[in-house]
Amino acid sequence: MDSEVALHTSLPAGLDRKESEIYSQLDTGRLPRHIAIIMDGNGRWARQRHLPRIAGHRAGVESVRSTVETAARIHLPALTLYAFSSENWKKRPATEVDFLMRLLRRYLKAEVPTLNKNNIRLEYIGRRHELPEAVQERMAWAQEATAKNSGMVLTLALNYGARMELVDAFTAIVNAAANNGGLNHLKIDEELIDQHLYTRHLPDPDLVVRTSGEMRLSNFLLWQVAYAEIYVTPTHWPDFRGRHLLEAIAEYQTRERRYGGLGEAQAHT
Ligand code: FPP
Repeated sequence: MDSEVALHTSLPAGLDRKESEIYSQLDTGRLPRHIAIIMDGNGRWARQRHLPRIAGHRAGVESVRSTVETAARIHLPALTLYAFSSENWKKRPATEVDFLMRLLRRYLKAEVPTLNKNNIRLEYIGRRHELPEAVQERMAWAQEATAKNSGMVLTLALNYGARMELVDAFTAIVNAAANNGGLNHLKIDEELIDQHLYTRHLPDPDLVVRTSGEMRLSNFLLWQVAYAEIYVTPTHWPDFRGRHLLEAIAEYQTRERRYGGLGEAQAHT
C-alpha cells in the first residue's frame, strides 16, 4: 500500500495512463537535459491518407502540443523542435511555405496561455530577420509573453541551418575581435564558438529524436550534437505524442554514453 502511494505521489501531474506507465519505468535522476527533435513525415502521413501535404502540417501541430506539454510535465529542462529549415524555403512550393508561416503564427497566438500555464519559456534559433515581418512580430510577442517563465525552455528552430549558424558564429567572432583590439589577439577555442552559436542559452542536446525513419541529421545542430544519442522512430510526426517522447527517453537510458572513453565493460578488461 505504502509503495503504491509513493509511486502515485511521485508521478508528475497531468500524464495520461500510458505516459504514467512509461514514466514510472524511467530513472528520473537521469533524464536528458536537452532533447532536440527533427519533426519529419507530415507529407508522408498526409499522402497515406490521400490528403494534401498541408493536412499533415496541420495535424503536426497537435503532436507539437502533446510533446511540449509532456516534456514540461516531466520537467525536462530543454526541448528544441526543428520546425523550419533554411532549405525548406527554397525547396517547397510557395503555397506550402505560406501555409507553414500562417500555421506558425496561429500556433504562437493560440499556445501562449498553455506555455504560461506550464511555465515554459519560448526561444528561437535561426535567421529570424529573413522571415516575413508578420511572423517576426508574432514571434517577438510570444517570446516576450513567456520571458518570465522559469521552467522548460522550448526552442523553435525557424529558418535554421547548422552550417549557416556556424558561418554566423565565425562572422560574429571576427567582427567582435576587429572592433575590440584587432584580429592579432583573437584566440578561438570551443567555448568561444559555443558562446556565439544561436544555442548559447542551451546545454548541448543529450538526445536527438527523428520521426519518420530517415537516418539523417539534415543540417540540424551539427556542432552541438557531437556526443548526443540519436533515436529514430518510424512513427510519422503527426502520430507522435508525449508517450513516444517518453519511449525515446526510455531507450536513451539503455544506452551507454562514452564521450570517446572506454565503456564500463571494456574499462575492466
Ligand atoms: C516535416 O515534414 C515537417 C515540416 C517541414 C514542418 C514542421 C511543422 C510542423 C510540425 C507544424 C508547425 C510547427 C509548429 C512549431 C507550430 P515533411 O513535410 O518534410 O514530411 P515528408 O518528409 O513526409 O514530406
